[in-house]
Amino acid sequence: MKKILEQTFAALAIALLVACVDNSTESASAPSNAAQPNIVQLDAYKSPTCQCCGRWVNYIGSNGFEATTHHPADLNGIKRKLGIAQQYQSCHTGVSKEGYIFEGHIPAKIMQRFLADKPKDALGLAVPGMPVGSPGMEMGDRYDDYDVLLLKKDGSSEVYERIRHKG
Ligand code: CU
Ligand code: CU
Repeated sequence: MKKILEQTFAALAIALLVACVDNSTESASAPSNAAQPNIVQLDAYKSPTCQCCGRWVNYIGSNGFEATTHHPADLNGIKRKLGIAQQYQSCHTGVSKEGYIFEGHIPAKIMQRFLADKPKDALGLAVPGMPVGSPGMEMGDRYDDYDVLLLKKDGSSEVYERIRHKG
């Protein structure tokens, strides 16, 4: 079932790219969003074969966001262009309409908090790597501790939120 969904999203993204419909109302998000106010639009750049990326896109689609997926040939080039240094990188990259970056498996409520009160000189948020148990990286009852980082425009970062499951 997940595989079929992944393929559907991939096909949809390719269809959108081919048609060059940048502002299409089509999206990969769940229809349950329709009645919610203040849905945040995101562009999500990912590999078409990445399953955890697809799961994260589905997850945010049910949690206040509407992601339009893109499968660029050079995903690393996109990250470089957006100014996401290697040590902050994960699999997928979300970009808000205002240009804020959401790199990796960030919980939706933390992105909402950031967008509601944007820190000065912020580039965006990042969860580097792919921590087990983060949204889209569910693996049974395993949960890694991890930090959501605030990326600054000068290339520095600080901890924005600590996600702790143990102790
Ligand atoms: Cu991932
Ligand atoms: Cu991903």
